[in-house]
Amino acid sequence: MKRNKIFLDLDNVICDSDKVVRGLITKHLNISAKKQDVVEFDYWRALDYPKRHEKDIWKEFHSKTCLIAKPVRYSIDAIRRLALFADVHILTARPRSATSPTKKWLTKHKIPCVSLRFSTESQKISVVSSSNQALLVEDRGETAEEIARAGKKVVLFDNPWNKAFGHKNIIRLKNWPSIYYYVCGFQGYAKALMQLHQRLFEKAKLAMRNSYSPYSHYKVGAALMTTDGRVFSGCNIENVAFSPTICAERTAIFKAISEGYKKGDLFALSIAARNSAGLVDDANPCGVCRQVMQEFSSPHYPLQISVRDNKDGLKLRYLDMYLPLSFRKL
Ligand code: THU
Repeated sequence: MKRNKIFLDLDNVICDSDKVVRGLITKHLNISAKKQDVVEFDYWRALDYPKRHEKDIWKEFHSKTCLIAKPVRYSIDAIRRLALFADVHILTARPRSATSPTKKWLTKHKIPCVSLRFSTESQKISVVSSSNQALLVEDRGETAEEIARAGKKVVLFDNPWNKAFGHKNIIRLKNWPSIYYYVCGFQGYAKALMQLHQRLFEKAKLAMRNSYSPYSHYKVGAALMTTDGRVFSGCNIENVAFSPTICAERTAIFKAISEGYKKGDLFALSIAARNSAGLVDDANPCGVCRQVMQEFSSPHYPLQISVRDNKDGLKLRYLDMYLPLSFRKL
């Protein structure tokens, strides 16, 4: 099956380069600048120093200083999740000479990309403009604007240097959780995500066969995918004393946790249930399971939950819809 592609710019989308570059500018030119001062993409224009200094600063950044940059907040968690239903391609305008530190940095931060391409801004524009339904996440307003003018939607990572760009095809987003949520609902990606949930739902139905429910005769199965793509399934297991009963959802989650998975490692859960009339629509998780999901779900990327909507569809919701205003800490 052909996978959807998502294109990601590297600097200031995945790698928090701005902070490091401003540090180099201070070191070389003794100019100190805050992020808000960088109101143009070119530092020399924004901070008003001669262009000729640019070469040394970028040379230092691209030779090895880029290795000390931190990932952009919440980017890695989002990319790991996106990689479960789309191919992640990194398009960077860094020079080819930066190949080695760039690869090292991506490996160090375990970024699951299927390709890394060094391309000029115009090559970027043509790659993205020619692939249908694929989104680019970019922070350079000029690049986003050209793609938008070519009739493509493009995600612009909101920054002080791109405020001037506002084409209607530009989706301006402020952080990775909102980018992730947007991509999950966008055209081909939304479709691929639903297919992933369909496969999980089939596994939930298989697990439902193992349900031990002689008292309620209500059979439940759940299938949980972790952020590294592993699937744990579970069923409800009842007891003659009633209260020892455990739900399918908790069985699946506890299996993952007992295998070493941690808070934040949960990605998606699908739930299947049947009563004497057959498969149940909207087999929503009970309150106790919602609280357990919340314990192990990422606060920035709430667990995705799917249930049967009608005879051939699923409904996808996020944990924060099931458990708003949740009890989170003591
Ligand atoms: N049950 C689940 O497994 N998951 C739910 O979210 C709701 C309830 C089980 C518990 C019990 O075995 C039966 O369904 C009836 O409550």
